[in-house]
Order: sequence, then structure tokens, then C-alpha cells
Amino acid sequence: MSLHPVGQFPAYRPRRLRQSPVLRRLVRETELSAGQLVLPLFVRSGRRLRRPIAAMPGVFQLSPDELAHEAAQAHEAGVPAVLLFGIPDRKDARASGAYVANGVVQQAVRWLKREVPQLLVITDVCLCEYTEHGHCGIVRSEKSGARILNDPTLKLLARAAASHAEAGADMVAPSDMMDGRVRAIREELDRLGFLETPIMSYAAKFASAFYGPFREAAESTPKFGDRRSYQMDPANAAEALREVALDIQEGADIVMVKPALAYLDIVRRVKTEFGYPTAAYAVSAEYSMVKAAAAKGWIDERAVTLESLLAMRRAGADILITYAAVAVARWLKEQ
Ligand code: PBG
Repeated sequence: MSLHPVGQFPAYRPRRLRQSPVLRRLVRETELSAGQLVLPLFVRSGRRLRRPIAAMPGVFQLSPDELAHEAAQAHEAGVPAVLLFGIPDRKDARASGAYVANGVVQQAVRWLKREVPQLLVITDVCLCEYTEHGHCGIVRSEKSGARILNDPTLKLLARAAASHAEAGADMVAPSDMMDGRVRAIREELDRLGFLETPIMSYAAKFASAFYGPFREAAESTPKFGDRRSYQMDPANAAEALREVALDIQEGADIVMVKPALAYLDIVRRVKTEFGYPTAAYAVSAEYSMVKAAAAKGWIDERAVTLESLLAMRRAGADILITYAAVAVARWLKEQ
């Protein structure tokens, strides 16, 4: 039976339910609230450092002390969680900065746990910020060109995740898209006794032009080639579901779709198909485009931002990762 028996109820007038703000509120299907927000933050070593990111107005590379300050303000505004990205002092072929005990993310986690203990700290697990070539895995050059070595990369990702947990991270979020990394990370966390540390996997991560500004922010633009051998083809939706299924089988607790706004069909299908906690990542260019148009006076930044995030909720996202999290939390309080 169709839910919409067109013609059967000629007297049905949808506008009846829009007559007053109270009625509109009563029949509202989707809620946007600060408790669903995650704020991504960029950390690099130093003291009192706030380095602006040109393509992302209002976003900075922060030293751990400044990061703690920023995170405290976010928490104060009502944002319950942050997602950390690190920019190391030195990059090398084996991405050592990603898993050394006193790496920049590990230091930042300790700062946050000391200064803002209530805040949920999620760490991005990837190698691209830490490799000299900017790829998300170990690279071997061959006659036919460079190759990403999937399996040797898994061990390093697992070490990185474990070092974050050891520093006190509440959750780890692998974003590399190597095959099998959720299992490798789960096994390593369990082996070290972190049985209760959840994994939020970037399960359906597309090879997207919307990551442009992030690569400036994280200084992780690949020096050669691109990420299409490990990130997904934007043309594929069924493959996204297979990727998500795999990550769930390997032990992911939360699955993420990324980017968000151009991929709401994927968010909806993932939520409907698996019923798992689902996160949508409104990535850097989604933020920058709104900022740029708003600066020109062409759009209403607040209205566009809230409407976009509401759309992600409507599509099925439980968790919204956005660079606008603090502003959004404040706007929601004013409403
Ligand atoms: C690292 C990573 C990227 C983003 C999150 N984690 C960049 C990439 O894959 O190139 C992008 C986030 C954003 O654009 O805001 N693998």
C-alpha cells in the first residue's frame, strides 16, 4: 500500500499544519541540536600559536595550549566533541610523527584531557599529514609509477590509533581508506586493553575536490598523483554500501560518509541499510564556499549553514562534523 494515495483524500490540505509556529514545531520531523556536533581542530607544535588558514576564515592551526583554549570555548558553547588533526614538525617516508608517543596529536590529547576533561576527544588516524609525499599510506616507487602499499600501512595505522588511545583519546577515526584498517586497529586496541575505545570509521570517503582547503590546513596535499586508488569514485553508491558493510564487519562502531552535502543520498542509504550510528562530515570546501559567498553578501551565512546541517540530519545523519560547530551551537542557543 502506498503511503501517498494520490487523489484518495481530496480534502487533505498540507498547509493546515503550517498555520502557526506552534503547529509547525509540533509536526517537525527533524531536530538539529548542539549535542550532535563535532568540531575538527588542527594542532601543530609550539606555544601561543594561532596560524590562520587562508581558505578557511575562522579556522587556525593551533599549538596545544591554544587548542585547549579553543576547545574549552567550544565546550562552553555546547559542542560536546572535537576531532583532532596533527601537523608534525617533520615528515618522513614512514610517517613516524603519526605514532610517536610525544607526537603533536598525542600531546594535544593530553592537554585536552587535563584542561577540558568533559570534552570527548576524537583523533583522526591517517598518515597523509606525516608522510613526506602526502599520501595516506606507505609508497613504493616502481617502474610503472608509485604504488600505495596497503598491508604494510595497516600496522602503522594501528600503531597511530594505539598511541592516541594511550594518550587518552576517547575515540579514534581512521580516514586513510586502506582496506582492512578497521580490523587492524580494533585488534591492536583490544590487544593493548582498550576494549572500550570505539572506532568511528570514515567508511564511505570519496575522492573529492571538496577537500581542497583542508589540504592547505593540514599541509597534506599529495606531492605526486592523487588519492583515487584508495578513495572512492564519486559516481558510486553501491560501492559505498559495500565499504560501509566491510567496516561494520571489521568492528566499526560509527560509520561516516564524507563529504556530506553532495552525498546526502549516500547518508540516507547507509542509515536505512545498516541502522548504525552514522556521521556526516561537512568538509572544508563546504565551509569555505559558504564563508566566501557570505563575505560577498550573496547569502545569509547562518541560514544557509543551519539549513545544510538540518538537511544532513533529515538524510539520516546522527553526528555532524563541521568547522562551523561553535557558531552553530551559539545560533541554536539564540533560537
Ligand atoms: C586525511 C583527511 C582528509 C580530510 C579528512 N581527513 C583529506 C584527504 O583525504 O585528502 C578532509 C577533510 C576536509 O576537507 O575538511 N586523509
